[in-house]
Parts: sequence; C-alpha cells; structure tokens
Amino acid sequence: MPLPTHLPAPRRLPAAQIPALRWGIFGPGWIAERFVQSLLQHSHQRIVAVGSRTRHHAQAFADNFGIPRAHGGGISALVNDPNVDVVYIATPHNHHFPAALAAINAGKHVLVEKPLALNAQQVQGLAEAAAAKKVLCMEAFWSDFLPKFDVLRQVLADGMLGEVHTLLADHGEFFTPDHRIMDASLAGGPLLDLGTYPVALATKTLGAPTQILAMGEPAPAGVNGQASMLFRHPGGAQSVLNTTLFSQTSNRALIAGSEATLTLPDCFYAPGPFTLTTHDRRQTLHWEEECNRYQQLHHEAEHFAWCVGEGLLQSPVRPLSDTLLTMATLDEVRRQLGIVFNEEKA
Ligand SMILES: NC(=O)c1ccc[n+]([C@@H]2O[C@H](COP(=O)([O-])OP(=O)(O)OC[C@H]3O[C@@H](n4cnc5c(N)ncnc54)[C@H](OP(=O)(O)O)[C@@H]3O)[C@@H](O)[C@H]2O)c1
Repeated sequence: MPLPTHLPAPRRLPAAQIPALRWGIFGPGWIAERFVQSLLQHSHQRIVAVGSRTRHHAQAFADNFGIPRAHGGGISALVNDPNVDVVYIATPHNHHFPAALAAINAGKHVLVEKPLALNAQQVQGLAEAAAAKKVLCMEAFWSDFLPKFDVLRQVLADGMLGEVHTLLADHGEFFTPDHRIMDASLAGGPLLDLGTYPVALATKTLGAPTQILAMGEPAPAGVNGQASMLFRHPGGAQSVLNTTLFSQTSNRALIAGSEATLTLPDCFYAPGPFTLTTHDRRQTLHWEEECNRYQQLHHEAEHFAWCVGEGLLQSPVRPLSDTLLTMATLDEVRRQLGIVFNEEKA
C-alpha cells in the first residue's frame, strides 16, 4: 500500500479554549526551571506561586522568574494558597505521591512529573482520590503532548505501518555518582527516570504485554544500573527495550510493520525528526523540526489547561489508565529484577 504524499499535520488545540490557569510550582529544581521557562516564553499560563522545603529556595526561584509568592515549609502552604488553580509537582520520584495527594485533598488540580508515582498501587490511589475530589490529575509525560507525537499517533491510527511486529527503543545516559538517580533513598536507578519512555512507547503502541522478560545489572551506588526488557504483546508483536545510567546510548526507537517502518533517531522521546519508509524503500516521508527539547514543555501545560477548561477529569491524550499500564509493566520488570523501593518495604 503506498503512503500518502504528506504526513498528517499535528492537531492544535484552539487557543481560545485554553484558559490561563494560575500555576503553583512545587520542587523548584532542574526540570521545574525548564518548565517555567517554557510556559513563560511560549504560553499564556500564569505562574503565581512556588513551594519548597525551604523559604529561602522558594524565594530565590521566585525572584529568578518574577513569581509573586514563595512558600517554604513543604507542600502545605502552596496547596492552601487560594490563588493557585493547579500544582505542578517536580520533586524526586518518591515525593510525587504524598505531594500529589496533598494537592488533590486541598481541591487543586495536579500535574505530576513522570513517573506519576512509584508503582501501580500509588497511581491507583491518586486516581481514586482525584475522582473523589473531582480534580484533574495527570502525569507530565511531556512526549505525548509534543506535535511530533500527535503526528505519530495519526500515522499509527491510519494503519500506515500495516501489521506491527517489532518495536525497538532505548534510553541511556551517563550519570555521575552525585546525581539523584544514583540515590536509593530517592527511588534511583534508570527505570523510572529513563526506562519509562521506552516502556510507555511500547505499551501505548502495542498494548499491555502478555509476557515480560527482564534482565538487570546493579550499579555500585546500590541502585539498579541497567535493565533490558523483552515484551510480547497481543497478536505476537515484540518490543526490545533497554535503559541504563552507565552510558550514553543511541536513544533511538523503531516501530516496524508489514507495510512501513518508523525510525526515530536520537532522542526519540523529545522534539526532533523521524522518517516513515515503505518496506520496499521506494517512498519515505520525513518529519523535520528543531531538537529544541525543553522549550516544548508548554504543550503539556496547555493541554492540561484545555482539559480543565473543558471540565475533563481525564486527559484524552494521557489518561491515568495509560500511566497505570506503564507503571504496572515497570512493576513486573522490577519484580523480576528484585528492585524494591524503600517506601515499599514493610
Ligand atoms: N520531563 C522531563 O523531561 C524530566 C526531566 C528531568 C526530570 N524529570 C522528572 O522530574 C522530577 C524531578 O527531577 P529533577 O532532576 O528536576 O530533580 P532535582 O532538581 O534533583 O530536585 C527537584 C527539587 O526537589 C526538591 N528535592 C530535592 N531532593 C529532595 C529530597 N531528598 N526530598 C524532598 N525534596 C527534594 C528540591 O527542592 P527544594 O529543596 O526547594 O524543596 C529540588 O530543587 C523527577 O521525578 C524526574 O523524573 C522529568
């Protein structure tokens, strides 16, 4: 079957239907800085408050970005700030669940950095709490909201690949020993930080694995250092995935079908090019864009604001069922590798 002459265009939300929410930032660190920069430069969203464990750190972040209010002493003051509509949580992984629960219980909408929580049980707990309070709780899984991924979803939905048999993806980076990814007390290891991208790609594209095989290698710091995963999906498709904190890997992905193959070079999960090539290599379509990475974080925030404006309690792009599937899959990988986080120990 020939490919169309052009790739589908990314679908944009109508600007008039994206309300300017009042955001409170919790965990003013590395990713929060990039999130705020992107929102300030590329959206009409309003950053009205920041919360931290220490007043001093909150104030320094507020001063840096011209944010009107700074709250110290943890999450409490931020979630009780009446001027805040939505709390964005950007602390280390194991602090996501308690912070998100506090925000939900205070009646705030909450956008939580990936991973939403440590395991499927925590995700389920947040889903139930958010449903009871009628607030939106969404994982800040930024890839899903990039225009590039909207095009990819349309390519897959239109059946341009034919029958998909194989998905390959890896995400590996070199980290120094002082990074939080090396810290077992912060639920370190590559799986929740990096591995979540290839696992989410596989589960969203091919469905819940019917079989999972995992092999891991510990890092000297006392966390898992690398994991390779093999999934079998309904219908017999297979995913071959790897994640590591020992070295920089290709960070590529490939989704291969009977009619055509999608190749996502370099950081597959981030803005950047991809190609779609027919199996006879006679036709190729290219998606071209700058690899401007974190500048595109505003898409997830604008999607979130649109959901709130529309009164949606689940994102149609990344509903909590997607997050749950990713986490349940990672839970099984961790079970096979014997990785138990401190919070899960009796
Ligand atoms: N979307 C993406 O591309 C992306 C990229 C990187 C990270 N992330 C995710 O974002 C989250 C934060 O990552 P990051 O690298 O930005 O983290 P980080 O800079 O190391 O920490 C973020 C903030 O959390 C607070 N914090 C640090 N250590 C803590 C501890 N032991 N206990 C409680 N709070 C602590 C600190 O704020 P205070 O001291 O002010 O309280 C810190 O500024 C992670 O879950 C990660 O997976 C996402």
